[in-house]
Amino acid sequence: MAAVGRIVVLGAGFVGGTLAQRLAESDLAEEVCLVDIVDGLPQGKALDIQESAPILEFSTRVTGSTSLGALAGADIVVETAGLARKPGMSRSDLLEKNAGILRTHALAVREHAPKSVVLVVTNPVDVMAHWFREVSGFPAARVFGESGTLDTARFRTFVAAELHVAPRDVTGFVLGTHGDTMVPLLSLTSVGGVPLAQLISADRLRAIVDRTRKGGGEIVELLKTGSAFYAPSASQAELVKSVALNEHRLLPITAQPSGEYGLRDLYIGVPALIGRSGVERVVEVPVTAEERAAFDASVAAVRTDLAVLSRLPRTG
Ligand code: LAC
Repeated sequence: MAAVGRIVVLGAGFVGGTLAQRLAESDLAEEVCLVDIVDGLPQGKALDIQESAPILEFSTRVTGSTSLGALAGADIVVETAGLARKPGMSRSDLLEKNAGILRTHALAVREHAPKSVVLVVTNPVDVMAHWFREVSGFPAARVFGESGTLDTARFRTFVAAELHVAPRDVTGFVLGTHGDTMVPLLSLTSVGGVPLAQLISADRLRAIVDRTRKGGGEIVELLKTGSAFYAPSASQAELVKSVALNEHRLLPITAQPSGEYGLRDLYIGVPALIGRSGVERVVEVPVTAEERAAFDASVAAVRTDLAVLSRLPRTG
């Protein structure tokens, strides 16, 4: 029996489509529904995924719709919609445009799926998760963002390649925003329990951290026409699974602390427990003075972006 009834993925681009495929193949829900404004896109991708069911042996029904009414009865919603930055567009332009799209979606989720758990993926993710929660009026536990799961997946991949070890044996955490100001916590990173510092030289580790910070950009430069979607959708599927199966995974996500790290008024990358009710608990870990300074810089970057959104309407 499927763990949940309906999972709705907003946005049927490369991220949304690939995520819908991963979710269908893991048979977590009775139905996975793709929603997009481009007529034919969500329906076409849904039908294509559905037609793989006999071969891949999943039972999930995969549907597509252009209507936000399709949110009705969703247990879990994943927000992937939004624009990527185009040449000539400032960061504030992007923020305002994506905030406009997410406002419409957050109000629709409030109306049609008031009990759902929402995973926000749209960038800049810390700010967009904050905005989605504010507009929806949902409790902070039921809105969180994907960030550190993707960043750590990249970090773990690079460490595994460096040491010729299985990627799954490398564990690690990042704090802070998704992107340039992320803070990998090297003291909490290990390979099968052996601290990383005992296995890799400080120089090589610095280079790997730097590559991780720029990981999203490295893919954009290679693809030229868009950003990453295989690793992002894998990390989103991991988070959705932890909700659907009530796994209580401890994963780095974007959440609103309630006093942990001295914060309670904004979304930022922190380790947290994820289960059927959403964010069960933000976990505070010891950080060095240097890591704390880097984390504070991340918080300041989020505050700057939130100031841009403060003058936008929350309703209508
Ligand atoms: C990435 C962007 C898309 O890190 O967030 O790939």
